[in-house]
Amino acid sequence: MNTEEIYNDNADKWLRLTPSSLSDFTARPLVFEACGELNARSVLDIGCGEGYCARELKRRGAGDYLGVDLSEQMVKAAQAQEAKDQYGIEYRACNVVEFNPDRQFDLCIAVFLFNYLRVEEMQRVFSMVYDALHPQGQFIFSVPHPFFPFIHRSQTPPFYFGSRGKNYFADVNQKFEGEIWKRSGEPLPVQCVHKTFGNYFDCLRRAGFSSMPEVKELTVTPELVAIDKAFFSPLLNEPLHLLFTISK
Ligand SMILES: C[S@@+](CC[C@H](N)C(=O)[O-])C[C@H]1O[C@@H](n2cnc3c(N)ncnc32)[C@H](O)[C@@H]1O
Repeated sequence: MNTEEIYNDNADKWLRLTPSSLSDFTARPLVFEACGELNARSVLDIGCGEGYCARELKRRGAGDYLGVDLSEQMVKAAQAQEAKDQYGIEYRACNVVEFNPDRQFDLCIAVFLFNYLRVEEMQRVFSMVYDALHPQGQFIFSVPHPFFPFIHRSQTPPFYFGSRGKNYFADVNQKFEGEIWKRSGEPLPVQCVHKTFGNYFDCLRRAGFSSMPEVKELTVTPELVAIDKAFFSPLLNEPLHLLFTISK
């Protein structure tokens, strides 16, 4: 299925002002923590969706903020919320693979964007990000854990990617369709264009990043199970997401 259509058709389900989907608990809080003190730092948010992360980083003190997303409906939802909040966030609808920013930023975030891009597209975007960052600028991104579709085969709540018959190495760039659930019980359609661990490291190096990234493997913790056992416990201790932090 076409990514743009998926997000245009589901923008109203994605719009949220408080944590709602599984990864609002298992990943986004750790992305925000990795961003640290914002102190008016400028932020480029690629694949910003309806602005959930943008609003949170603005509340945490971000300065100049540009969010870009492929889906016009997601951007419209973000702009409608911005009209109410007046945080000063600029949103633009565009394909990030063809995007060249008109200014540089202190921080770039990409929260579950690269699972929609092929390796060669991700490579172009990493190079764009490298150029778009000020010296010592930071790049922070989260992606599905590359092992998750192969370790977790059952297509059940609260999260899966269908990978029947797929191979970890041979099926790079294959698109796995999946779903992630909200705690309300509503599923959201998601996709994963498969990449290996090695693809992320190779693409960062080729883009010009020369330091080691910090990589965290994110999961469902016992603390989350204590909040809502029925929702979180099916994925306790499974490798769900990766969080990369790297400096220019
Ligand atoms: C899972 S959503 C995450 C949205 C937001 N980052 C968040 O954390 O709430 C993925 C987003 O990536 C966007 N996206 C996918 N491919 C894209 C592309 N080529 N260019 C820009 N955005 C893209 C989708 O439209 C969607 O809004």
